[in-house]
Amino acid sequence: MQATRIAVHGASGRMGRAVLREAVLRGDVVVAAALVGAHSDSLGVPLTRMLGADAPDLPCAATLDDDVQASVVVDFSLAGAFDDALAMARRHGLAFVSGTTGLSPAQHAAMDEAAATIPVLWSANFSLGVAVLARLVGQAGRLLADWDCEISEAHHRAKRDAPSGTALALGRAIASARGVAFDDVARFSREGIDAPARARAEIGFAVTRAGDIVGEHSVLFATDGERLDLAHRATDRAIFARGALAAARWLTVQPPRRYTLDDLLAARADQASTADVGA
Ligand SMILES: NC(=O)c1ccc[n+]([C@@H]2O[C@H](COP(=O)([O-])OP(=O)(O)OC[C@H]3O[C@@H](n4cnc5c(N)ncnc54)[C@H](OP(=O)(O)O)[C@@H]3O)[C@@H](O)[C@H]2O)c1
Repeated sequence: MQATRIAVHGASGRMGRAVLREAVLRGDVVVAAALVGAHSDSLGVPLTRMLGADAPDLPCAATLDDDVQASVVVDFSLAGAFDDALAMARRHGLAFVSGTTGLSPAQHAAMDEAAATIPVLWSANFSLGVAVLARLVGQAGRLLADWDCEISEAHHRAKRDAPSGTALALGRAIASARGVAFDDVARFSREGIDAPARARAEIGFAVTRAGDIVGEHSVLFATDGERLDLAHRATDRAIFARGALAAARWLTVQPPRRYTLDDLLAARADQASTADVGA
């Protein structure tokens, strides 16, 4: 497979830089464009200055020129900048990968609409390990339907939303596997000297905000006499960049549709089992 040419939207941010750094390290991805906001301090700044001598000698730009040969837009920006990124991908007929969070229902609907003409993959968490964890907790939730379930997560001190979108997604996966409505069973706080006793079906959430923790999620299933812990720890933002680049490479050879990271996992598993059969 040829190298995938990516246009990184939100190039000056923490994740944008992580994607660019990862791309520079790999031989299968080429940075075709680094996109920043029209008023960005990074506008015109060459990637070599941002990332070092190994980076392509390419200035950060505010728009994707028609002569730029890219096959996919990789967006990690802000909810307020997301519409521009999606519009750019649509206008140029490029695949669209996004990890931008805090999107409105209208922005999700816009991705559904765009998916009629371009392949689109959005994920709140590009860790492949978390994608597997979501599958595992769904299975465990179904098989251990009457066990107590508690989810805890820890992130760096600057993270504002709580519980994390990933913790909520894990809770939703468990509720859905158990055939119950998430809002009926989610319990976000317990306090006081006479807090209500734990309801049987409850899914409890606990949140830690401290230091520079990149992201930790753990799901506990417990009953009398035994417990099962399923956990994921991210120690480096690069994992999200790697997941997004894996998605970008895969997406460019898929037909227009809305995809999830789980689709990528399934495709990889199919490929591995076909290779086993052929061996
Ligand atoms: N899905 C995942 O796995 C995952 C993992 C981590 C983070 N995230 C999400 O990814 C997003 C970015 O996170 P971050 O930590 O990188 O945030 P950040 O450091 O604040 O970066 C966001 C960048 O967006 C850029 N931006 C703003 N307006 C723009 C525009 N009109 N066009 C292009 N770029 C624009 C800003 O750059 P300028 O001001 O220089 O333009 C800023 O550097 C957030 O939504 C975060 O929650 C997702």
